[in-house]
Amino acid sequence: MAEMMKDKRVLRKAQDEVRQVHRGKQNVNGSSLHELKYLDLVIKESLRLHPALPLLFPRENQSKVEVCGYEIPAKTKVIVNGWAIGRDPRYWTEPTKFYPERFMDSTIDYKGNSFELITFGAGRRMCPGMLYATAVVKLTLANLLYHFDWKLVDGVDAEYLDMTEAFGVAVGRKCSLCLIPIAYSVPT
Ligand code: HEM
Repeated sequence: MAEMMKDKRVLRKAQDEVRQVHRGKQNVNGSSLHELKYLDLVIKESLRLHPALPLLFPRENQSKVEVCGYEIPAKTKVIVNGWAIGRDPRYWTEPTKFYPERFMDSTIDYKGNSFELITFGAGRRMCPGMLYATAVVKLTLANLLYHFDWKLVDGVDAEYLDMTEAFGVAVGRKCSLCLIPIAYSVPT
């Protein structure tokens, strides 16, 4: 929601899609969620820039290996920084820009096969809650976008919206996102 408030173009596009797909319906329900293709891109881009678990769980290598010329002894604890990989300019153009369209016609996904995007990790320790989490996020966002128009509170400029994150094992916004919902009357 915060990234969309900063870029109204994305907000309008995602909202138009939800309202078009659910035209004439009183509620957004699970059965038409698969039609919200642009919202999928928005969620993917949000998870790239703001992974809830920026550092994956620690791993340990069983045997000695060489990585980029460095010798890594057996039993070294490895902590992968998924947050940094998601913003690495070697893999992403304009990495800090929130631009959902970058995933259009792209095979990069967070399902564990694209190592540029490891929001849910990869391999055997990968997040088992991925499908549940993404379905809940999508259903929630779709409802928020369908039933309400959104405004920033007076005096807050979208360009300067504070996006600081509070660090912990799981990361979230440091300051609450305060928005004004304006009820949308569903056309009959
Ligand atoms: C957007 C939401 C979520 C994100 C971004 C997320 C991300 C992650 C990440 C990065 C890992 C570590 C994977 C690795 O080290 O390879 C993980 C592990 C895990 N997640 Fe999630 N997760 C989310 C939601 C959930 C939910 C909703 C559940 C449960 C219903 C869940 C349950 C778990 C469990 C049990 C593990 C540990 C798996 C293991 O160590 O074998 N997660 N998650």
